[in-house]
Amino acid sequence: MNELTSLIKPETVAVVGASPKPGKIGYTIINNMINCGYKGRIFPVNPREKEICGLAAFPSVADIPEQVDLAIIAVPAARVQGVAEECGRAGVKNLVVITAGFKEVGAEGLELEKKLLQTCRDYGMRMLGPNVVGLIDTHTPINASFAAQFPKQGEIAFLSQSGAMLVALLDWSASVGLGFSKVVSLGNKADLSEIDFIEEAAADPNTRVIMCYIEDIVDGPRFVEVASRAARQKPIIVIKSGTSQAGAQAASSHTGALAGSDLAYDVAFRQCGIIRARTMTELFELAVAFAKSPVPGGNRVAIVTNSGGPGIIATDNVENRGLQMARFTKETLEELRENLPAEANIYNPVDVLGDAKADRYRFALQKVCADPNVDSVVVLMCSVGVTQPVETTEAILEARKEFPDKPIFAAYMGGESLAEGAAMLARAGVPCFTFPEPAIAAISGLVKYNEIVNSPVEEAAAGLQGIDRKGVKAIFYDVIKDNRLVLLGSEAAEVARCYGISAAPVALATSPEEAVDEAEKMGYPVVLKVASPKILHKTDVGGVKIGLGSAGEVRQAFMEIMDNVHGYMPQAVIYGIEVQKMMPKGTELIIGMTRDVQFGPLIAFGLGGIYVNLLKDVSFRLAKGLTEREIENMLRETKAYTLLRGYRGEKPRDIAALVDVIRRVAALVNDFPEITEMDINPVFAYEDGISALDIKITIS
Ligand code: COA
Repeated sequence: MNELTSLIKPETVAVVGASPKPGKIGYTIINNMINCGYKGRIFPVNPREKEICGLAAFPSVADIPEQVDLAIIAVPAARVQGVAEECGRAGVKNLVVITAGFKEVGAEGLELEKKLLQTCRDYGMRMLGPNVVGLIDTHTPINASFAAQFPKQGEIAFLSQSGAMLVALLDWSASVGLGFSKVVSLGNKADLSEIDFIEEAAADPNTRVIMCYIEDIVDGPRFVEVASRAARQKPIIVIKSGTSQAGAQAASSHTGALAGSDLAYDVAFRQCGIIRARTMTELFELAVAFAKSPVPGGNRVAIVTNSGGPGIIATDNVENRGLQMARFTKETLEELRENLPAEANIYNPVDVLGDAKADRYRFALQKVCADPNVDSVVVLMCSVGVTQPVETTEAILEARKEFPDKPIFAAYMGGESLAEGAAMLARAGVPCFTFPEPAIAAISGLVKYNEIVNSPVEEAAAGLQGIDRKGVKAIFYDVIKDNRLVLLGSEAAEVARCYGISAAPVALATSPEEAVDEAEKMGYPVVLKVASPKILHKTDVGGVKIGLGSAGEVRQAFMEIMDNVHGYMPQAVIYGIEVQKMMPKGTELIIGMTRDVQFGPLIAFGLGGIYVNLLKDVSFRLAKGLTEREIENMLRETKAYTLLRGYRGEKPRDIAALVDVIRRVAALVNDFPEITEMDINPVFAYEDGISALDIKITIS
């Protein structure tokens, strides 16, 4: 039992707007409820009818003599509010509001929807919709929808924000015999959303795979929390269309520009352990693979083929997808060598040759499946005159039975001549495709999932020491008082120090003499940088001078910077010149943050310096809940990591210090939602420790 049990397994259902007139939605719904085998009691509600489809009808929900678990509402939009209030007063627990004409049609509709949601909240009702096709559960069974098809019972839960997509899928699945545990049209998601149904499906014993089509996620943090848990219980495959608003936001920082529009979703899905499908085809192929196939123990793939070309294509795909071609044991190779024709390729991909009949496939398959170095098998077949598609299919089914833990995928490359074999595989639950690529894509999805479930759940890291929140608050207060949103470098460095991020000493000077004083205090050599909130990319306007080793050089550089900046940007307000201790050169990195509307702060790490945008060697993670292990994974994803580990004889850099700094940056941006963007570029990484050189912070 969970919160949605009375919605998905109701004992009593009212259909408000039920109609005896064929062709009307209210007619389809009442018939769908009757014909799906629903075992509870159904109450048609219609003010004008005494009986609908053989069931006694009631003029209103208030007249139903029993407690109603679910009311399906299919009356015109203007009447929905009244019906919902009636349902509330009658103690109805859940609503499925089929009616369109709400948020999706504009401001007036949005008002209607808000009112409707408030009514649900007032009476403690949960609502699916409005603007939905409805909800189907094949195991209850219930068909609270106006869909034309009731799917076969199966193990896939499909949640869709598009009604059209859902209807099309139901139609298609009937033609290929694909079954579903449940199908939910999410519509406007005024109350219940994909998050609630992911949670429900994860706990549902009849569901093995969760498949979603979504256009947006409204509550990013809750989605991440629920989906991260659910993804460890069952594979979740998502296709997400559209782009997030983060991209539409003009980004002034490097990190913002690198993040791009769809990145937050990508990062969030990956961090949750969700498998993201890029195309509708891939979504279904993955769903079929997950529903029907065992999960491989590792990423080593064996290919058995009767033609060279497709074998090579499959091999390329294996590598491109980050899988490995299995290396057979000596015993397997010997057996294959002794029993296959001399021209056959016994190494992976095993080419049993164009004239292979079923017996040759059978032999190769048996040996390859039995090999401990093989985690999954792909069988490719082209039909030539001597090919025995049906008998070869039987050989595959025998192997399937004998090696139930080893996933076998087939690609039958052809049409009519292979159709019977393909149908046999479909019936037996062996995924069969027309070409090798989707088979490999499916294996890659399964392997990814295996990694997700087997990755350790990391304990929350111990609290960070040396955090001064009050100090940061005071700096922000001063900045806002000064009518600014961009911090000066010296202020940003102070913020960093408050969070234990080691930053190079920096001070603001308003005259050449003051600059010399500061330089003498911190010791030569120093760097001078123009301090102006309007100038984000200082090098571009000649606003930076490095390697200044004496008072004379500092004075001279001060004047030159002033001249340059006045020349390039005469209007820019200049606060002075920052004097910064020149730090010894380390590996140049960037650590940054950009904020996404749905998912909150995203942390970036990568190769730093002035080529950041050109090289784009950056990885991202959500700042919320960022663990040390995830930070390490994040570092590993970049080429910068190769440098950090010591490239071409160089000493390795202090990776532990970097991980610590990223944790601190994440803590800072989580603690201060007013930080809209942050860039530390460059951060110098040394053999021992790191130093943040140029820190940019923008607040709101
Ligand atoms: N209580 C109970 N029944 C009521 C009622 C009420 N308060 N008010 C009206 N009804 C009855 C009507 O009498 C009618 O029954 P009848 O066929 O016996 O005359 C029935 O409810 C439907 O009302 P009607 O005015 O005929 O509406 P309709 O069937 O033309 O349209 C919807 C209703 C909900 C189908 C329509 O407004 C709609 O939203 N369509 C789009 C649905 C959609 O696309 N959803 C999203 C999919 S992604």
